[in-house]
Amino acid sequence: MTNEINWNQLKDAAVAAMKNAYVPYSHFPVGAAALVDDGRIVSGCNVENASYGICLCAECGLVSNLSMTGGGKLVAFYCVDGAENVLMPCGRCRQLLFEHSEEGMLLQTVSGIKTIEQVLPDAFGPRDLAEGFGNEQRN
Ligand code: THU
Repeated sequence: MTNEINWNQLKDAAVAAMKNAYVPYSHFPVGAAALVDDGRIVSGCNVENASYGICLCAECGLVSNLSMTGGGKLVAFYCVDGAENVLMPCGRCRQLLFEHSEEGMLLQTVSGIKTIEQVLPDAFGPRDLAEGFGNEQRN
């Protein structure tokens, strides 16, 4: 599936999402879109708050949209800023994406197409919990 990714379609979805951003504080709109393993596209925009620290990144909306529309694994991801340029997901959002990514999920980045494992090396994720080592230690 990964060699059939329509990056233009994903960018268009990210740009459309970006136009819904609520950014009265930073004036920095962000839109994110991703292809899901069943072929649908999910997206999100950033939604800020007067309590600056709880601003929601575009990726938060995207993963919520993923769950709300049937779940699945993310296969490819595209994020844009207000000028429609590619934007890197922040560190916290790389972790958010990793949780829901198919192994080898591709991202359009400022230095070309990369995998989620390249932008979040040695990530902590669901498989670490599944191994149960931490739980055994506590019991
Ligand atoms: N932002 C995102 O939506 N996603 C990112 O990955 C980077 C940052 C938002 C958060 C805030 O609303 C604005 O960009 C400026 O930091």
